[in-house]
Amino acid sequence: MATPHPNHPEVRQRKEKEWVSSHPSTALAGKLVILATTGNKRYLIALHPGQTFHTHLGHFRHDDLIGQPLGITVHSQLGQPLLLLEPSLSDLITRVKRNTQIIYPKDAAYLVHRLSLRNGDHVIEAGTGSGGLTIALAWAVAPAGRVYTYEVRDDNFNMARSNLERVGMLDNVSMFQQSVADGFRQAGADAVFLDVRTPGRYLEQVRAALRPGGYFAALIPTTNQVIELLAALERNSFADISVEELLLRRYKAVPDRLRPDDAMVGHTGFLVSARPVVDPTDPGRWLAEERKRYAARKEFEAKVQAEADRREAERADKQADKQAGDGQHKPRLPLP
Ligand SMILES: C[S@@+](CC[C@H](N)C(=O)[O-])C[C@H]1O[C@@H](n2cnc3c(N)ncnc32)[C@H](O)[C@@H]1O
Repeated sequence: MATPHPNHPEVRQRKEKEWVSSHPSTALAGKLVILATTGNKRYLIALHPGQTFHTHLGHFRHDDLIGQPLGITVHSQLGQPLLLLEPSLSDLITRVKRNTQIIYPKDAAYLVHRLSLRNGDHVIEAGTGSGGLTIALAWAVAPAGRVYTYEVRDDNFNMARSNLERVGMLDNVSMFQQSVADGFRQAGADAVFLDVRTPGRYLEQVRAALRPGGYFAALIPTTNQVIELLAALERNSFADISVEELLLRRYKAVPDRLRPDDAMVGHTGFLVSARPVVDPTDPGRWLAEERKRYAARKEFEAKVQAEADRREAERADKQADKQAGDGQHKPRLPLP
């Protein structure tokens, strides 16, 4: 008799059953899980003994889920299937309850890279908003590091606190309900990130909180804000400045018809990053080459213009002198 193909549904099902029985309870009590529908809807829920989760597909007793291995298909009392998954970092960020615009995972991920965060780092963030980015920062610096997050509005502060508590991140986060304008309570931080409207106004506070050579970044939505921030960074002796924008294009994952999604998120924000430098003599020398070349060009153009203005003034003076001289020697007309 021929051996069935390993991808034959019966073979696969038998293997899955074997896998499930060899991976007993993963102790999901009190843990967050994702329940995903076949239609790509995802629910983030915490599993507690005795509770029931209700959806349009029927309900699920938490007790029936708690002993299950992750990755398994579970069924409601109506026989509807859901996939039981561990929540990814993206799930946690995008499913926070929100009062504010939250940071997109694409920006959060790159920001962690730009701030060079790792386990053990101390990072300051403002404003906390709904706590979306705080989750990503805590994820990056945990378990040995810490996030210090500042929020001026009490409604956002409280919402962020309950979001962080829900996803179990509060242990690595210290929250302060205070404006950045009043400075940070920490010094020697590895990184500072600002998600506020006018980050350029708070660069003195940022410098005071950062360790020498630490990392600074801000996310701002408009080019006008970027221009303001660039000028402020130069005034405050920051260098290694970069302005970046990330565009993420998703594809329809159809093997025979692989093509981009019809719509995409066009714009989220500009990510500006920089490092504070100490150079009392000439901090400007640490600016980007193109920035220095442009300054040199402007200086040269100003000199050329000044010389042209000087020559024009000289010519006008000569002309005026000539006209004055001509007037003096003009013969009088004879009286009639
Ligand atoms: C766009 S939201 C931040 C969103 C956050 N990154 C997230 O992922 O959820 C901006 C937040 O900054 C707060 N904010 C504005 N100015 C502030 C200041 N001077 N000090 C502290 N927080 C401030 C606002 O109240 C708001 O909650």
